[in-house]
Amino acid sequence: MDIVGRCASFTRSRQARSLGLYPFYSAFSGRGPGAARTVGGRDVIVCGSGDYLGLAADPRVTEAAAEAVRRYGTGSSGSRLLNGNLDLHEQLEDELAQFFGKPAALVFATGYQAGLGAVAGLCRTGDHVLVDQEAHASLVDAARLSRARVHWFPHNDTDRLAAGLKALPGNGGRMVVVDGVYSMRGDLCPLPDLVRVCHEHRATLVVDDAHGAGVLAEGHGTCAQYGLTDDVPVISLTFSKAFASIGGAVLGDKAVIEYLRHYARPLVFSAGASPANTAAALEALRIVRDEPWRGRAALDNAHRMRHALSALGYRVPPGETPLVPVDIGDELRTAVAWKLLLDRGVHVNAVMPPAAPACLRASFCASHTREQLDAVTAAFADIREPLAALALPENGLTASHTSHLRLPGTEDSAETWAAGIRHLLP
Ligand SMILES: Cc1ncc(COP(=O)(O)O)c(C=O)c1O
Repeated sequence: MDIVGRCASFTRSRQARSLGLYPFYSAFSGRGPGAARTVGGRDVIVCGSGDYLGLAADPRVTEAAAEAVRRYGTGSSGSRLLNGNLDLHEQLEDELAQFFGKPAALVFATGYQAGLGAVAGLCRTGDHVLVDQEAHASLVDAARLSRARVHWFPHNDTDRLAAGLKALPGNGGRMVVVDGVYSMRGDLCPLPDLVRVCHEHRATLVVDDAHGAGVLAEGHGTCAQYGLTDDVPVISLTFSKAFASIGGAVLGDKAVIEYLRHYARPLVFSAGASPANTAAALEALRIVRDEPWRGRAALDNAHRMRHALSALGYRVPPGETPLVPVDIGDELRTAVAWKLLLDRGVHVNAVMPPAAPACLRASFCASHTREQLDAVTAAFADIREPLAALALPENGLTASHTSHLRLPGTEDSAETWAAGIRHLLP
């Protein structure tokens, strides 16, 4: 089949959409009080946002972005290497390095590019890169692009990591790549063990702290939470979560950052972060520094909701981050739960394989009001009955029961839908 033909035969997303159970690409507009937005003309409480500190609509941040547009224009007009480097980028780098307690920082246009630049930029042919099996896709792509030999270790299994490192030949550099906070389940990496194992086996540890930075340890992130910032040679960040913007950064020693300035291809061969995004991230960083209560408020809200949802009988793993996964069952149950919640004015993210096992992935922010959290709890309480009425087995669907099962509000069988939703993502 030719390539365009392959695209034309991709009909699964249309099938899922036609059943009203397509949980991706919801189009939001506006911003109301707290975490309220609009989807398809309906007001919803957003419980899937990365705006953990509630800064994306903060007037100080929006004004900093607007002022940067007035002063610098809308784009950076090129690679930072040549003509797209702004004094604003360098100011942000100085303040990031200072806040996170690392000697130097390098700002990229996205968090994806920061991770890609760090891992692929530092590794060479003949090196070995060992990646946690649940690491973010940007790190998986980075490892593949790095030209190093890629090895996977089971999620958070430092014994298997140590065994893998021990078995490597003596020559070639070694890099270990993990998330600080895992983006799908919200669990933390076992940093003290990782630091020890990397030290014992002379491996360079890279921690992607997209979800921990700005929130944990009064904003200083996962490495600071463990008191191990000095022991992690390379940390990458994104501005698209707590820092209310778009962009990312790598933190490390001056020599590492200077090397990446020349070897990180996503930095060298792509335009610098826009003035508005850079200024917004800088302002957000200053607010994180001055208002450490925000990270605590996000964590308190997540804690409250973990308890509230568990008390309703939902399976919610324990955790200490703003990310709260709710295990509903397989893809179909998860998508139905997503839709039932949306009908009740609550938007949560539906995670589908192969990104991760199906679950509802909620996140709670400093900006969620008590009333909003109560309304979210009420919506979860309200959908228990229709979910139970779906009477699907806990461990997935088989053709024998999907062919006769009708989905709520549609004439379609679950089987049609299940065929639609499975493997929507590469
Ligand atoms: C762990 C992790 N790393 C990197 C990224 C990419 O960040 P960005 O959205 O800034 O490109 C994400 C985004 O979701 C993430 O969760």
